[in-house]
Amino acid sequence: MSAEPKVRRVACPGSFDPVTNGHLDIIGRVADLYDEVVVAVLVNRSKSSLFTVEERMAMLTEVTAGYGNVRVDSFHGLLVDYCRRMEIPVIVKGLRAISDFDYELQMAQMNRGLAGVDTLFMPTNPEYSFLASSLVKEIATYGGDVSSLLPASVYKRLLSRLDEIHRPGGEQR
Ligand code: PNS
Repeated sequence: MSAEPKVRRVACPGSFDPVTNGHLDIIGRVADLYDEVVVAVLVNRSKSSLFTVEERMAMLTEVTAGYGNVRVDSFHGLLVDYCRRMEIPVIVKGLRAISDFDYELQMAQMNRGLAGVDTLFMPTNPEYSFLASSLVKEIATYGGDVSSLLPASVYKRLLSRLDEIHRPGGEQR
C-alpha cells in the first residue's frame, strides 16, 4: 500500500485582464487551504483584451509572490483538459453574487460531466462583490478612481496602458 502523501492541488482559472483585489482575495484564501494553487490564465484569441497573456501572467506572478504555493500558468482550449494534464482534480471559482451562480453552476456541472473535475465555489469578500475587471477598465478609461480596487503595481500598469492606447495611433491588444 502506498503511503505517498497527496499534494492537494487546485486551479484558479480566469482571464485576469487585469488581476483585481477581488481575484487576489480568492487566490490568497485558496492558498491557505491547498498545498499548491495554479492560477491559470485563459489564452483566448477571440476575445480582445487590454493586456497580453504574458503581461497578465507577469502581474499575477508579482502580486502572488508573497504566497509560497501559488504558481501562474496559461492554457488553451478546455479547462478540464488542462486540469487533467496537470493532475489538478479541482477548480475553485469565486462567486460574487447570485447572478454569477447560474452560469458557474452550468460550467461546473459540464466540467464534472466531461472529465470528473469538480468545482468548489468560494464566496467573495462582500467588499469586492461588485468588482469585475471589465468594470474597472471602463471606469478607469473615463477617468474614475479605481486605485482601491487593484494592487498598486497593477493600477500603475493600467493607467499607463490606457495612456498608451489613448495616444494617437494607440490600439488595444
Ligand atoms: O475570468 P473569466 O473570463 O470569467 O474566466 C472564464 C474561464 C476562463 C474560467 C472559462 O471561460 C473557461 O474555463 N474557459 C476555458 C474553455 C472551457 O473549458 N470551456 C468550457 C466550459 S464548461
